[in-house]
Amino acid sequence: MPKTIIVSNRLPVKISNTDNEYQLSPSEGGLATGLGSIYKQDNNVWIGWPGQEVIEETDRDTITSKLQDLSLLPVFLSQEEISQYYEGFSNTVLWPVFHYYASTYATYAQSNWDYYKIVNEKFKDAILKVAEPGDTIWIHDYQLLLLPALVRNEMPDVSIGFFLHIPFPSHEMFRLIPWRYELLEGMLGADLIGFHTFDDVRHFISTTTRILPVNSSSNVITVNDRLVVAEAFPMGIDENKYSSLPKSKEVIEQAKQIKETFKGNKLILSIDRLDYSKGILQRLEAFELLLQLHPEYIGKIALYMIVVPSRDTVPQYKYLRDLIDKKAGSLNSLYRTMDWSPIHYYYRSFPIETLSALYSSADVCLVTPMRDGMNLVSKEYVASRIHDDGVLILSEMAGASKELIDAIIVNPNNIGEVCRAIIQALEMPLDEQKARMQQMRQLISKFNISHWVKIFTDRLREVKQQQRSMQTR
Ligand code: G6P
Repeated sequence: MPKTIIVSNRLPVKISNTDNEYQLSPSEGGLATGLGSIYKQDNNVWIGWPGQEVIEETDRDTITSKLQDLSLLPVFLSQEEISQYYEGFSNTVLWPVFHYYASTYATYAQSNWDYYKIVNEKFKDAILKVAEPGDTIWIHDYQLLLLPALVRNEMPDVSIGFFLHIPFPSHEMFRLIPWRYELLEGMLGADLIGFHTFDDVRHFISTTTRILPVNSSSNVITVNDRLVVAEAFPMGIDENKYSSLPKSKEVIEQAKQIKETFKGNKLILSIDRLDYSKGILQRLEAFELLLQLHPEYIGKIALYMIVVPSRDTVPQYKYLRDLIDKKAGSLNSLYRTMDWSPIHYYYRSFPIETLSALYSSADVCLVTPMRDGMNLVSKEYVASRIHDDGVLILSEMAGASKELIDAIIVNPNNIGEVCRAIIQALEMPLDEQKARMQQMRQLISKFNISHWVKIFTDRLREVKQQQRSMQTR
């Protein structure tokens, strides 16, 4: 029976080493939940890297068999591969360029590119170990751009879908990359290429047709007589999970404690992975401006800011962390009083129950990335607002802003505008909050993660059928 093979840089499990014993726990990420319904079925499988650290050769067999029981197949990476393919090429070339930070943060070292190729080949070998004709292979994200073509060369007829979870930049950005031809040719090995927004699709098609000798008609690119379709599939979240959690005893209890702690204050929530693309420093500047221009809010509002540690072995991320620490510290030292602090800053991750309690307690959620493929925090906040109150402030540079049009939409570079948006949110009448939130909740509930998985996989099947019927004509 044909199977589906999901491939992503990370596996949907967290691996930890306590007392020299490896523990596996399922990840709560949106992708893991959404694809859970697929990879756990029949003989389907998910291929990926089992984590941040290097796993000793001697432990690999034990881990592999533990993972096999969960329908997972590991690709182990050496320290060099982690530092050059993951930290180096993926996060020092592709991430900054695709988020429009090419001139600030991208460096183009040949050895990083060499390792990117080596690791993509490694993933191909893992796929070839299990793939059979008739299978469907769904590859995810920027760490594996070369993989679709590598697999296509070995299995010309297999069905390959690719989804990019980050923005696809304009041609002017993409063409800066020294290995631009190879990267595009890699992606074009897929039959269907999915993006979060229509703008990403437009950029991809215009980039591909300018850089490679290929033609396109609408969203279909012809590559050596093979048709490749590029389309937008905005990713949703597990709405059911986020709207049920606030009704659980544990979350209700935690939310009560949060409300008690911040009694008399309006709570503004900010949650991100540590990343320069998230606009955390600019957000702090907007909050600072608010305190400067509107001292009437001092003692009456609090910013609850969670920064989840991420890629902290990459120098730019370490540096950013220091800047955020300094900025949050200096604002607190300037404005705090005996019984009030403007910013409650946490540099760590929290269990989903605590996040849910925060989402359901916060009067305002401030999501202002400089650039973001989608941004699931904005959707999680909306899904958690089961009483329809609360206000979302959302950057127009996040993919989610194309759907959540009832949020207060801001340009994150315009500090004054963000500051005014916070005031508008703090002062918004309940009727207006409810009218906006109801619209957004309906949308999040309908276009949820299962819907996303279904429309992508249905479309891939359709594209493959079209290609096959063209070949037999
Ligand atoms: C983004 C990317 C994912 C990545 C995640 C966490 O959402 O699109 O591919 O897994 O960030 O980053 P990390 O580098 O820790 O995997």
